[in-house]
Amino acid sequence: MDTAYIGKSRKRVDGVKKVTGSATYAGEFKPEGLVHGYVVNSTIANGKIVAIHTGKAKMIDGVLDIFTHENLPDDVRQNVDYTDPLSPPGHPFRPLYNDQVLYNGQPIALVVAESFELARYAAGLVEVEYLAEECTTDIKKNMGNATTEGVEDTAPDRGNAELSYANAAVKIDVEYSQPRHYHNPMEPHVSIAEWNAKTQSFKIYDKVQGVNSSQEYICGIFNLDTENVQILSPYVGGGFGSGLRPQYQLFLAAMAARELQRPVKVSLTRRQMFSFGHRPACIQQLQMGASKEGKLKSIIHKAYGETSKFEKYNETIVDWSGMMYQCDNVKLEYRLIPVNVYTPMDMRAPGGATGMFALECAMDELAIKANIDPLEFRLLNYADKDQNEDKPFSSKELRECYRQAASHFGWYNRHTKTQIKDDSILVGYGMATGCWEAMQQKSSAKAVLTSSGKLVVSSSTADIGTGTYTVMSQIAGDTLGIAMEEITFQLGDTSLPKAPIEGGSWTVSSVGSAVKAVCNHLKKQLIDLAKVNVDEDLDHVNYDEVSCTDGTLLFPNGTLINMSTLLLTAGLDSIEAENALEPEVRQEQYSSYAHSCVMVEVHVDKDLGMITVPRVTSAIAGGRIINPKTAESQILGAITWGIGMALEEEGMIDDRSGRIMNANLAEYHMAVHADVQQLNVLFVEEHDDIVNPLGAKGLGEIGIVGVASAIANAVFDASGKRVRNLPITLDKLL
Ligand code: MOS
Repeated sequence: MDTAYIGKSRKRVDGVKKVTGSATYAGEFKPEGLVHGYVVNSTIANGKIVAIHTGKAKMIDGVLDIFTHENLPDDVRQNVDYTDPLSPPGHPFRPLYNDQVLYNGQPIALVVAESFELARYAAGLVEVEYLAEECTTDIKKNMGNATTEGVEDTAPDRGNAELSYANAAVKIDVEYSQPRHYHNPMEPHVSIAEWNAKTQSFKIYDKVQGVNSSQEYICGIFNLDTENVQILSPYVGGGFGSGLRPQYQLFLAAMAARELQRPVKVSLTRRQMFSFGHRPACIQQLQMGASKEGKLKSIIHKAYGETSKFEKYNETIVDWSGMMYQCDNVKLEYRLIPVNVYTPMDMRAPGGATGMFALECAMDELAIKANIDPLEFRLLNYADKDQNEDKPFSSKELRECYRQAASHFGWYNRHTKTQIKDDSILVGYGMATGCWEAMQQKSSAKAVLTSSGKLVVSSSTADIGTGTYTVMSQIAGDTLGIAMEEITFQLGDTSLPKAPIEGGSWTVSSVGSAVKAVCNHLKKQLIDLAKVNVDEDLDHVNYDEVSCTDGTLLFPNGTLINMSTLLLTAGLDSIEAENALEPEVRQEQYSSYAHSCVMVEVHVDKDLGMITVPRVTSAIAGGRIINPKTAESQILGAITWGIGMALEEEGMIDDRSGRIMNANLAEYHMAVHADVQQLNVLFVEEHDDIVNPLGAKGLGEIGIVGVASAIANAVFDASGKRVRNLPITLDKLL
């Protein structure tokens, strides 16, 4: 049997379970005596709760209790640690803490009843009196309140951007904006909490992108040690960043479970899925100058991002502009504008999708002004080192991305200014560069091999739909030469070796590298066993001269030793290894990024302004591709989202009340099947033995970056209209 798995397309090992309904998601566990909580959310964005009337709701048969700021347990109120590993500077929101309302949609009561329907009905009977104060949610109106307080440093300025801008032969001065975006994973957020009074411990099923982050949050609030808080999250129906921080339903379920001594489930409705973090609205200003020949002379990039009044949410928006292209005069600025919303949160390619949208549209505008083909313009200004950090790249096959995308798409043969269908449809072409950081985090893994040839590998990481179960099994199978059918990968449990949250596109590089390392430890143990138990002549053999395939060790002298037989000979039922792996120090000397080139064709209806996207080609250099099938799926999903970002997605808030007006999937438009036509994903070969032991850069976020700009650029090419405020809805073209 061929047990070389890395680089080969494999179906998801959990695929059958998922499509047959036997994969149990957090909200589907049914502990004995489970009761249900329903959340009441505030209808004002700023002010005070004067009175909260729960009498009518309490009289309903089957309602067990109603929790509000008036009866929050004292110890919970007094514990101030509500942080989680991703808390930005400021004060994390504390549900039911006091009578203050900080944003519209804030949870202000939890009704717990014997059934979900009862809880929901009773929640409707809770009456709230507010003293509303003025609120403000529009960042454009609040530009004057932009602050650097709590804002992370941007990459340092270099040269003299203002002077070179003033002297540049070709220049642009443009402003872009984008609205709030909401994650909306298919599976809403849900937590089921069980409290064991005897052992003073929690067992919690949570929909989250990393169980350890929920654990840290619960330990802080309830003043518990990690051994008394177990979080389980075996399957996750999409995250996109919404599960990077623990959400309020987790706190409410845990608190109610402890108070009522019953397991409590709190799941959020689709509308409530709009009542916590989102991709922040952002305004970006770019001044860019170039020489007549098209050499970049100056980049001045300023971004104004939205944050809440209680936390300073940061993302990296402007740094991309100092790194993407060769330019000696760069000035970067980032400010936050606090408004009456919940703290924004990371959403797929946080900061990158935003910053690169503006930069890549501005590059297009400047190229056109300089009368240079947009792709040629990028090649003219190609960066061979990271000027932000003055470091070489560990690898960068972006040139090859440009070449392959152009060749596949037919970039140089495109016919601009064409019209079809009796001249009513305008055709346009656009392109953009994409980029995302390749990161590695400290991760642990454990591997156990039994004498029956079964391998169990485990780590507390998550599979948010990305394919973690599958690729980790491939990596383990490949390293130890064991068939995937014999491998079980376990995740989503705080009792397993600690892994970081699944985010930042770092799971394969971090957990995958730890899995590879722990399997290599097992291999060494097996070789040592062989030396002692089978053949002393093998003593001089180096570990890396031994290969593993089909459950067998192959020594350089041709000796084949079956692993199961070896364990039995040694009198062992199993062997195991556990390790933690950190990034190597030498990685710090390099900059590591995944890159892409996105090319799109759009059709614009001249009379109706309707835009369709018949064709997208995305060429990705993401290092080693572990599983082309799941990798392609990542990119397809991300391109689809990029289409939505360009043309549809827009969280709309009524500025008078701070209420989200389109908090549902009918009115919050996103790209659906009908919006997606031909999507072509190309993976460009890229070798990188520095970025991490696997050479894989991660593919979770790169696919969305650049897509919205390529579409905006193509819309301009088709219609001559430069729309700088997303989404590009038809009214903006008429
Ligand atoms: Mo991603 S926004 O780091 O889940």
